[in-house]
Amino acid sequence: MSTVYLTEITKQFGSVTAVKNLDLTIQEGEFFTFLGPSGCGKTTTLRMIAGFYYPTTGKVKFNERDMTKVAPEKRNTGMVFQNYALFPHMTVFENVAFGLKVRKLKKSVIKEKVTDVLKKVRLDQFIDRQVSQLSGGQQQRVALARALVIEPDILLLDEPLSNLDARLRDEMRTEILRLQREYGITMVYVTHDQVEALSMSDRIAVFNTGECQQVGTPTEIYNEPVNDFVAKFIGETNLLPVTFEKDVDDQSVYYSETMGDSFYVNKTDLNIARHQEVDQLSISIRPEVIHISEGIIEGKNVYQGKVSLVQFTGEAVHTYVKINETVTIKATDLNRGPKTYLKEGSQVNVYIPEDQVRIVPQSGSDQ
Ligand SMILES: Nc1ncnc2c1ncn2[C@@H]1O[C@H](COP(=O)(O)OP(=O)(O)OP(=O)(O)O)[C@@H](O)[C@H]1O
Ligand SMILES: [Mg+2]
Repeated sequence: MSTVYLTEITKQFGSVTAVKNLDLTIQEGEFFTFLGPSGCGKTTTLRMIAGFYYPTTGKVKFNERDMTKVAPEKRNTGMVFQNYALFPHMTVFENVAFGLKVRKLKKSVIKEKVTDVLKKVRLDQFIDRQVSQLSGGQQQRVALARALVIEPDILLLDEPLSNLDARLRDEMRTEILRLQREYGITMVYVTHDQVEALSMSDRIAVFNTGECQQVGTPTEIYNEPVNDFVAKFIGETNLLPVTFEKDVDDQSVYYSETMGDSFYVNKTDLNIARHQEVDQLSISIRPEVIHISEGIIEGKNVYQGKVSLVQFTGEAVHTYVKINETVTIKATDLNRGPKTYLKEGSQVNVYIPEDQVRIVPQSGSDQ
């Protein structure tokens, strides 16, 4: 096992800066995820950890060892690629044994290690099957076994589940987590699927256009986004530009021009992200914190609107409330039966709890 230190890493491809000034520590035994939109630098960063790319500037260290310019085969990292990169004409055994043969291990040792790892990924009955005759999920597990069998200090996985259907993906998520706990291995996992990131990771780094925006646990990233990009990228949110108006006791008041109204927000670190005075601000309102009622709601942060759409998804019901010509707010509730669904066109009151919203600076990104 290894702790990975990335220090002031920049990677340039010609005039393209794929990764900019990245500082990151991935702890020993941690399940660490890189999350972000296409082209934000996730694969490039993973490849610099694996040694397939060297950084233009900056340092890669595993524990105390400087690995910046060390060749991939000398790093003891395993990598699982998005397209599996298996040898289709070889058997499961031959695919998994490949890395051990390269390392010139004895035949009997190879046999033992391969059998063992195939049991772990529950493929032992397929040991002599040709890889091209396996399903997508089975091939994915061969790729995992091949990476695990060399007993890497760090396992790097680049969107390993993106080719699988929803059900298999769910199964493989559990499988990967089980293996990670069993081996106690440091895992770096790349995905642009936020549910995958939130449900699997110890910590997540959110990337945008080559820059790391935030590092934190799933709950920190979701509940305390540092800017509007992170708030928007992780989960759903209603984002409205606001300006600071005044403080009233232990609350701050922010004015939204598009709403034509003000929001009271509790003056805590949970509700107001760190920002500079010059920053443009937005309020982030998660759909699940909003209360809607046809009856009167007493108190602050109550706004009137008209239900424009009710969307049923099975476990949840999304209600869109039009406040005015430019603002429509999305609210989400668990399905509590047909009697609770609001009718499209009905007039409602919307309550936005002052202790469950977040003021965030705008990151200046157009993504
Ligand atoms: N070998 C290369 N040569 C030139 N540009 C590259 C190279 N590899 C990546 N890039 C560029 O660097 C940026 C980051 O690419 P990267 O592959 O790291 O993105 P990613 O976050 O993995 O995206 P995706 O989710 O689509 O896989 C992109 O703008 C990409 O076009
Ligand atoms: Mg990629």
